[in-house]
Amino acid sequence: VVFSNSVEASICVAQEIATLIKLKQANNKPCILGLATGSSPIRVYEELVRMHIEEGLSFSNVVTFNLDEYYPMDKNSIHSYFYFMHQHLFNHVNINPNNINIPSGSVSQKELHQYCIDYELKIKEYGGLDFQLLGIGRTGHIGFNEPGSHYNSGTRSITLDHLTKIDAAPSFLGINNVPKKAITMGIGTVKSAKRIVLLAWGHNKSSIIKDTIEGEITSEVPASYLQKHSNTTFILNEEAAQDL
Ligand code: GLP
Repeated sequence: VVFSNSVEASICVAQEIATLIKLKQANNKPCILGLATGSSPIRVYEELVRMHIEEGLSFSNVVTFNLDEYYPMDKNSIHSYFYFMHQHLFNHVNINPNNINIPSGSVSQKELHQYCIDYELKIKEYGGLDFQLLGIGRTGHIGFNEPGSHYNSGTRSITLDHLTKIDAAPSFLGINNVPKKAITMGIGTVKSAKRIVLLAWGHNKSSIIKDTIEGEITSEVPASYLQKHSNTTFILNEEAAQDL
């Protein structure tokens, strides 16, 4: 779906999430949301916060699983996705802190493998993700599933692509400060969500959006695996859609 501007598009996505939260509430069920970081979803979170404050949208039944975190990363660092999510959403709504799941960038190397298996298991124990929000990196990554990721991959540690580090460098004040690794949900984890919405704004995403939607399904463009998911919508602005 192509919108003329990203604000209107983000409001539309926030409305879909709010409707799902309320539907689950009416059925006394938890609402399991997979959430993303980066600049793309910020306006969606802003709208959800507005709905909470002005319209009383409750997050009491919401359980969240974030896609990824840099590794290593202290959760209190301004660069952590933990910090990002609290700043943009969690600090402003009535979510139970016990219901917030974000991969920890401070588990030891020794514990890392088991930690990832447990993160994956916890999602399954909730019956899987009801809704997964995604952005896309210029390498075609979703979460931090860089080129080469297997379509069936689960939560794991991954080495960041050079282009991903270049894109992250300005906020880290230089590429040498960007962590070399991350923890990410897998393609398999994302694809098991009942509903997926991917957001992309701006000219710099247009080429990877074309490859993702119109190109072949390949591990070289991990987001292209979404072509096989039956309930995925790409929400784009005109600039991101210009090459389609
Ligand atoms: C990071 C995140 C991704 C995100 C991507 C794009 O790499 N790990 O989940 O989709 O950035 O970020 P932006 O939305 O700022 O373009």
